[in-house]
Amino acid sequence: MASYLIVILVGVVTLIAAVEAVIPTAFNRHLLGMQQMMGSMHGLEEMSSDLFTNFRDAVTEALLFSTTAALVSALIVSFFVSRRVVTPIRQMMEASRRIAAGRYQERVEAVGTDELGQLARSFNQMASTLEQTEAMRRDLIANVAHELRTPLASIKGYMEGMIDGVLPAEPDTYQQIYQEADRLQRLVNDLQELSRVEAGAFKLECHPLAISDLIQRIAAHLRPQFEEKSVSLNLNLPANLPPVLADNDRISQVLLNLAGNALQYTPSGGTVTVSAAVQQPELIISISDSGIGIPGMHLPHLFNRFYRVDKSRSRAGGGSGIGLTIAKHLIEAHDGHIWAESAGEGKGSTFSFALPLA
Ligand SMILES: Nc1ncnc2c1ncn2[C@@H]1O[C@H](COP(=O)(O)OP(=O)(O)OP(=O)(O)O)[C@@H](O)[C@H]1O
Ligand SMILES: [Mg+2]
Repeated sequence: MASYLIVILVGVVTLIAAVEAVIPTAFNRHLLGMQQMMGSMHGLEEMSSDLFTNFRDAVTEALLFSTTAALVSALIVSFFVSRRVVTPIRQMMEASRRIAAGRYQERVEAVGTDELGQLARSFNQMASTLEQTEAMRRDLIANVAHELRTPLASIKGYMEGMIDGVLPAEPDTYQQIYQEADRLQRLVNDLQELSRVEAGAFKLECHPLAISDLIQRIAAHLRPQFEEKSVSLNLNLPANLPPVLADNDRISQVLLNLAGNALQYTPSGGTVTVSAAVQQPELIISISDSGIGIPGMHLPHLFNRFYRVDKSRSRAGGGSGIGLTIAKHLIEAHDGHIWAESAGEGKGSTFSFALPLA
């Protein structure tokens, strides 16, 4: 409104100045012609000054009228324009205040494709990201609490049993307690690693890496565990594989993780095969097993943290559902991707990841 008033004021002042400066001379010039036409009639001088006064009053009246009209329209226009601009901004201000107070489901109405509409859409996007993050945070705390509760309850149960004399204080009992404590420690280590990779708080030292050598080293390291469970470990590595651009330690971690899962979820007598193949511009590494397989409905969620196909089964095996989440973060940090395939329960599974070639 103030800006409109300034414009109107400047307009009116300019007009008045122009009228004052231009009109007397112009008027006289035009009247001169009339005087010459009419000859030197008596009283013409007086009449012309009268005419000029009237003319000037008429101009002032017209100016006054148009100024009023301009003011009224400025009032109306500024009312609508400011309502159009201010209302959504005020809405966003109030919504952001509510979001800051923890009401993350807050959204604003987004209409039109102009800047305000875009701002409203970005605002809503930000709000939904915040809502998701908040939900994830809540889930995480709930999951961690849940994971910690089981081993702690076991340890406490054993201790109580011994205090009450129900459980004998002998190596077997200590061994059970030790295993639970060990599971707790593994869980805490995994959580720490998870928070590190999720925050991206690790340094990748990518160099051209000969993946065949790495897979062979890992296989040699894991062979005793496979033999102990009577699961055969096969490698299917074509000669002369081109190097990939990757961090040796991180890819080892992923391979250990996937091969560890394959061993864990494959019963005795089964096979696990690690293979690699070039699929320009990437190298695909797959770990296939003949194990228990994964029903299709679980496949999309396997890489979510704490996700397990069968909660009770994995719990007994010590898994907490963090391994694949860590692997996914590590592979994605390499600009690669990781996925799981399975023909269904009892039909084995294949976990693959792709890395960019060096
Ligand atoms: N090779 C596999 N065959 C069948 N199921 C698998 C296989 N690998 C993973 N899974 C399923 O995916 C789930 C998640 O695997 P992930 O490695 O993330 O967790 P975990 O093995 O349960 O625990 P940990 O965090 O100790 O690795 C497992 O609980 C299991 O149900
Ligand atoms: Mg695992």
